[in-house]
Amino acid sequence: MSVLKSGVKRLLGRTGFDIVRSTNSRGGVDDFIPFEATMRAARAADLPVGDYVDEVMNGTPGATQSTINELSALDVFAADPGTVLEIGPGTGRYLEKTLKECSPDRYEIYETAKPWADYLVDTFGVVAQPTAGSSLAPTPDDSVDLVQAHKVFNTVTFLCASRYFFEMARVTRPGGRIVFDVMTETCLDPATVSAWATKGGTGHDSYPTAMPRQTCVDLFATLDCSLEAGFLAPMGVASTEVLVFRKSA
Ligand SMILES: C[S@@+](CC[C@H](N)C(=O)[O-])C[C@H]1O[C@@H](n2cnc3c(N)ncnc32)[C@H](O)[C@@H]1O
Repeated sequence: MSVLKSGVKRLLGRTGFDIVRSTNSRGGVDDFIPFEATMRAARAADLPVGDYVDEVMNGTPGATQSTINELSALDVFAADPGTVLEIGPGTGRYLEKTLKECSPDRYEIYETAKPWADYLVDTFGVVAQPTAGSSLAPTPDDSVDLVQAHKVFNTVTFLCASRYFFEMARVTRPGGRIVFDVMTETCLDPATVSAWATKGGTGHDSYPTAMPRQTCVDLFATLDCSLEAGFLAPMGVASTEVLVFRKSA
């Protein structure tokens, strides 16, 4: 049975949602989107939760689909990845749309916010891995066709993101893709820095976190992963840059 079908079946048996505090308060970012209040608001707005985040919370309707369309145009889903791994899926807005583009046998998530992880397991039949710090230890080397993270590395510390980068390269199979967005210098011209300084921020110390583009390119090159493409995606008052790497076959 596909990941999506088995998950939907499980969801039918579910009757309600509980408020559960995040399992990791160190970064202070995993309760960015409170589970129960967000689900309730999405239902009241009669929108799928991912669309609610895009349209209402972020004021960027269609943003998730636009990134997925860009990835599709880059043939990221063309080889029909058998195993996908996503770090920090949150509400699952990218996860849901990824599952419309491909039908992996296995979709692993690493998510520190337990209520969202449980919801994604129930809804989509994904596998929630124990998530601590920046480790993908439960996932074997060279085992994943597509590793992705969206709007995560601009919310965690530099060290957390950097440690995940090594892990992402480790678990990706030769020929596989690595996709993530970061707030690079491409996204930080003086006017944008001014906008962030005057209008940005959420009260979380680690948001937004910048990451130099060249640092990513050079680091992943040492890990046998070369940059295939980059494009901008809206975030907060400005944007992040989505980077697409391929691990050497
Ligand atoms: C800003 S939200 C983005 C969620 C989702 N990817 C999206 O774009 O809607 C960041 C997500 O990363 C998760 N997160 C934070 N720290 C993490 C960590 N160390 N490992 C895995 N997930 C983490 C948070 O719980 C949250 O779901």
